[in-house]
Amino acid sequence: MKQLSYDNGDKMDILGLGTWKSQPGEVYEAIREAIRAGYTHIDCAAIYNNEQEIGQAISDAISVGDTTRKKLWITSKLWNNAHKQEAVIPALQKTLSDLKLDYLDLYLMHWPVAFREDVVFPSQGDEMIPLEKLPITETWAGLAKAKAQGLAKHIGVSNFSTKKLQELIDMGIDKPEMNQIELHPLLQQKDMLAWCKEQGVHLTAYSPLGSRDRSAVMKADDEPDMFELEAVKSIAEAHGKSPAQILLAWAVNRGTAVIPKSTNPERLRLNLQAAKIQLTTEEMEQLATLDKHY
Ligand code: A2P
Repeated sequence: MKQLSYDNGDKMDILGLGTWKSQPGEVYEAIREAIRAGYTHIDCAAIYNNEQEIGQAISDAISVGDTTRKKLWITSKLWNNAHKQEAVIPALQKTLSDLKLDYLDLYLMHWPVAFREDVVFPSQGDEMIPLEKLPITETWAGLAKAKAQGLAKHIGVSNFSTKKLQELIDMGIDKPEMNQIELHPLLQQKDMLAWCKEQGVHLTAYSPLGSRDRSAVMKADDEPDMFELEAVKSIAEAHGKSPAQILLAWAVNRGTAVIPKSTNPERLRLNLQAAKIQLTTEEMEQLATLDKHY
């Protein structure tokens, strides 16, 4: 498996398992199955409301000898209602307790947006805290403290623009090591990719398959089906692979991490195999033309 390297020499498998939308009641088996299949990188978040079950699965996998803590790479994310500097470590400790871990490999600020601490999803404006009052730099200082205490080996962000990443870099403390964003052939974010490469910030692609299991309120009526794109289908045929595998291979061939979600044992395995697919320069160029900023 190809890996991404961090400045201190740590390495993360480039293809990991996404757990957004993995339902309680099914995520336990998915994690056990994924670890048996060879996944080491698991992407979690407090707001996915399934960390306790994931923690049980990781703990059971370790105790029966399917893996070790050291072999695993576990990422989680700070929710928007714990952005005050002093709220970061308690939120991380709750995640660690749910995941039954002593440390995370990577902890991300989930969004550059702050909510009141008693609000999970705001329904009106006053439930949000303006960034002028609670800046992302304050939250970042909290993440840096968590790293200094060894609770997270690496820290980063999610859903950040280059401008907001620059604000954190300008603080002159820990540099964000990761930005996790939506990336797929219809949303390639080429400027972000180039900027992050220059700055030494890794990218992780979420929703690489188009997140078709999103709730209806998060979907447009006329959403394109990436599995049906001609370029994706013809490349899949040429390699004897599925369109889903080509979408994942595209991310890996661009040098970004990618975290497809599946709770299906067969698809979990097929997705993992996609990390090995080598796309040609011509195929990558063909896929590059699909960008629609969608
Ligand atoms: P399932 O969990 O039943 O496998 P994303 O990673 O973009 O959020 O997409 C997740 C969605 O894609 C889920 O509905 C998941 O369903 C489905 N999915 C995951 N892997 C594959 C695959 N190899 N082929 C088709 N659908 C897949």
